[in-house]
Amino acid sequence: LSEEDQQVLTANDWLMKLYHHLLKYTKDGKEGYQYLKDRGISDEALEDFQIGYAPNIKDFTLEFLTKKGFSKQLLVKNGILSAQNDHDVIDRFRGRVIFPIRNAIGKTVGFVGRALHDGVEPKYLNSPEGGLFQKSKILFNFDLAKKHIRKENEVILFEGSVDVISAYQNGLKNVVATLGTALTESQAKLLNRYVETVVLCYDGDDAGLNAAYKASQLLRSVGCEIRIAKMDPSDDPDSFIRSNGMEAFQNRIIRTSDTYMTFYMRYFRRDYNLKVEGDRIAYIEKVLKELSMIESTLEREYYVQELHKEFNLSHESLMTQLQSYRNNQQ
Ligand code: GTP
Ligand code: MN
Ligand code: MN
Ligand code: MN
Ligand code: MN
Repeated sequence: LSEEDQQVLTANDWLMKLYHHLLKYTKDGKEGYQYLKDRGISDEALEDFQIGYAPNIKDFTLEFLTKKGFSKQLLVKNGILSAQNDHDVIDRFRGRVIFPIRNAIGKTVGFVGRALHDGVEPKYLNSPEGGLFQKSKILFNFDLAKKHIRKENEVILFEGSVDVISAYQNGLKNVVATLGTALTESQAKLLNRYVETVVLCYDGDDAGLNAAYKASQLLRSVGCEIRIAKMDPSDDPDSFIRSNGMEAFQNRIIRTSDTYMTFYMRYFRRDYNLKVEGDRIAYIEKVLKELSMIESTLEREYYVQELHKEFNLSHESLMTQLQSYRNNQQ
């Protein structure tokens, strides 16, 4: 670690503790605390994640950290302060609740600040990319989840950090999330080193569905087994857990998550009008092509049977078509 990186870590650590303290013990922090309570975040989770509040004061952080001996330049560089123009700086995260972002060994390398009110743009504000804070490499909560991931030989991947906090505080601990960006190859490989199975549990809306499809392709390409949870379009894991509880989340979402092929069929159905003959055929061909790449004979047979039942096509013709796709691959 360079001396500068070391300084950044020390500054981040001070700041994490300060923001956390402000959230818990000061009048300024009350609004942030109340926001988190209204969202059902427990006091234990406030500790586990060292959640904090950055007061809505332009130079609060600057004052605090320069008194501790950090240079303004360093603080601009690691993005705790934003440059407004040539000589003025302003606290980046002012007026937001703060989620510290830790790397795989538990060092705080950056922050995410969430606005307290809906309609404030951006809803989430991250530390700027660079140095120790590389969103493409970090998985939120990986450091705490690691031992649970190993034990369960399974990891649950969410879209949002609040989804992680919500699951974790309710006892589901093998949970991580990306930081608002698409899953990257380096994150997929990291997960693949620790587990056999990744359960993708993205938001139920179209954005979540599309992101889950992309992530599924990437995870398979690095060798992960995957399952994909399904959720109502209006739900995300956090909202589901809050309205239905952890037992329902486990039973109705995680345990009943789809296999890759079932998800694939569900995903691509949306592109076809299965009442139209041509569409029906095109859809069946698309599914058979995907099936042809599945190695397990048993699995192929299983889904052929599903198609046979649904579309009333002979098992034999489906198998013949599937075999011809397989032959073409060789
Ligand atoms: P809540 O509304 O607080 O429940 O957040 P969410 O996690 O459900 O948000 P959403 O599903 O809209 O987005 C998923 C993830 O995308 C978030 O956890 C963020 O990491 C990221 N994200 C959402 N909105 C923004 C934004 O305005 N800016 C940035 N940089 N990231 C965002
Ligand atoms: Mn504390
Ligand atoms: Mn979303
Ligand atoms: Mn969400
Ligand atoms: Mn949410």
